[in-house]
Amino acid sequence: MKKDKTRILFTLWAALFLTINGSGEEVKLNLMPIPAKVVQKEGKFRLTETFTAAVKGPAPGRLLKAGARLLHRLSGRTGLFFSQGNFPTGENWESAGLGLTFKRVGRLKVGEDESYTLTAAPERVEIVGETDIGVIRGLETLLQLIGADDRGYFIPAVEINDRPRFPWRGLLIDVCRHFQPVEVIKRNLDGMCAVKMNVLHWHLSEDQGFRVECKSFPKLHQLGSDGLYYTQEQIREVIAYAADRGIRVMPEFDIPGHSTSWLVGYPELAGAAGPYEIERRWGIFDPTFDPTRKATYKFFKKFFAEMTALFPDEYMHIGGDENNGKQWDANPKIQAFMKKHNIPDNHALQAYFNKRILAILTRNGKKMIGWDEIFQPGLPKNIIIHSWRGQEALKGAAKKGYPVILSNGYYIDLVQSAEYHYLNDPIPPDSPLTEEEKKFILGGEATMWGELISPETIDSRIWPRTAAIAERLWSPGQVKDVPDMYRRLEIISLQLEELGLLHKKNQAMMLRRLTGGRDIHPLKILIDVTEPLKGYKRHQGRVYTQFSPLTCFVDAALPDAKVAGEFRRQVDLYMQNRDEKSKKKLRRLLTLWEGNHKRLKVIIDQSPILKEIESLSEDLSRVAQLGLEALDLLSSGKKAEPTWIEEKKEILKKAALPRGQVELMILSAIEKLAAPLRGET
Ligand code: ACM
Repeated sequence: MKKDKTRILFTLWAALFLTINGSGEEVKLNLMPIPAKVVQKEGKFRLTETFTAAVKGPAPGRLLKAGARLLHRLSGRTGLFFSQGNFPTGENWESAGLGLTFKRVGRLKVGEDESYTLTAAPERVEIVGETDIGVIRGLETLLQLIGADDRGYFIPAVEINDRPRFPWRGLLIDVCRHFQPVEVIKRNLDGMCAVKMNVLHWHLSEDQGFRVECKSFPKLHQLGSDGLYYTQEQIREVIAYAADRGIRVMPEFDIPGHSTSWLVGYPELAGAAGPYEIERRWGIFDPTFDPTRKATYKFFKKFFAEMTALFPDEYMHIGGDENNGKQWDANPKIQAFMKKHNIPDNHALQAYFNKRILAILTRNGKKMIGWDEIFQPGLPKNIIIHSWRGQEALKGAAKKGYPVILSNGYYIDLVQSAEYHYLNDPIPPDSPLTEEEKKFILGGEATMWGELISPETIDSRIWPRTAAIAERLWSPGQVKDVPDMYRRLEIISLQLEELGLLHKKNQAMMLRRLTGGRDIHPLKILIDVTEPLKGYKRHQGRVYTQFSPLTCFVDAALPDAKVAGEFRRQVDLYMQNRDEKSKKKLRRLLTLWEGNHKRLKVIIDQSPILKEIESLSEDLSRVAQLGLEALDLLSSGKKAEPTWIEEKKEILKKAALPRGQVELMILSAIEKLAAPLRGET
């Protein structure tokens, strides 16, 4: 039974990539996230300059704006000079090439209906949604459907019935470790909308910065931000921009720990006497609010009343993570309070604090959400647990009937592969949860923590990998063909650039700066096979602070180095088939790398900033030479000399050492090529 089901699903996904047009020619669909249901039809809707579009529905304001953006992107992509620049309502709906319809204006609430149907026939395209938000999701699908042939651009005939698997599909952006100006947030909201994500989790306070103008307590932004904060006007602008795209904006004010920047202006609220300064290092620090003082709650009462008015979302994220409790342990007054109130430990004291904050939020009509540390029995059941430390917290909360979202496995700051994130499922097929318990899992969020990103590099850490996470959270769980995900990710990545995202474009600019305007080609060849160190390893190799440059080689290096990945796949193919075609491709790359150091050395000699990767570049050339020798030996059928083997082992060992905070991503493949020569397979 299980097998049959799997086969049917596979057939369904395989069918997705084949649409047969009138002449029997195959057209691949490149949708991401893959919709819940797609049926291909015959024929194509041709896009021409006479293309028109119209919308029908109550109060179509949001859709009129989305429609204008659609037309702009459509004409930008195709070069077609449409006579229509904006969406008219009503009157031309029947005759328009694209007709949009919806029943009601969607609310920005968890679980709002985002479903849509998209029907494309040679004569007409229609998108129908229960809400305008659903139609907006459909418009993005439409933009991903555009194909081209020798007759021009078209939309393949298709019938799509789509809805999200999870209602909460978020991206956290930490604007505290490094500030991110409004335009960065806006272009990333566009990216989120393109892949149907619906929550911007705005991490607004940290040890290293308080980023919101606060009128009740102006010293928060005045003393806690180096002048790098959002005015309330800007906050409203971002919220409206997100709302236009059907995206909720949920603020996070991380308390009681991670709070140094608050205490710079208000040291009297801390668990230890000040003064305090904005933290410039990364890690977990001692400054914490004093949860035993009346003044603390008086402060938060006023603070959250102001922030409630500013942020319309029904949820307020209070953080609650990584409170080390040191200030509480060392403060005799806090200790006396705990004794008096029978509070046994810091966890219980934080629970006491959370309860009082919860009361404040509830009075303001807000629901609370916090990192998994806030979880404790007895919390009201409408509080959301945000699991970051592991899937156990996720399952634990769901079993106890608490709504929960997952970020563990979606930490995009750790520079893991898109595949790693893609296969991280909030509800994997072997989940031990009951169907009832599974309903408490609302979805997940990619987390863009800000220690090692600048406005220049943030996009390249978010995109395109976050599109794979977006698919995990939107598409049916059975959609998990990794090679096909990578194929589509490449295409979507290019499309994301049309929204002003800089994830691809900025690398060339950064390389030009690194070479001082000299030829970037040799540097590009090296960077194409390196990736930044993963996990927290970058912090082990070097002490970074808020002032450290984020303009070095590592910052221009990308996660999921594409050329390295292709080389690894090619080596696998060659080892299986020993075919001439694969061998030729491998030879071409290895020869390029072998000769690269000589060319790059000339540039490094004039660009001291690149000195840190000089020996890495040299190692790439040596490893490539080894690869070429291994290929020759393999095809000649000769055995390698023991001295050759020993020498090569040393070369590979040295090449595996990270330099300049990056690592070479082709070494495992070179080892595979050399393995049979050692009598291993
Ligand atoms: C976290 O990463 N401390 C939520």
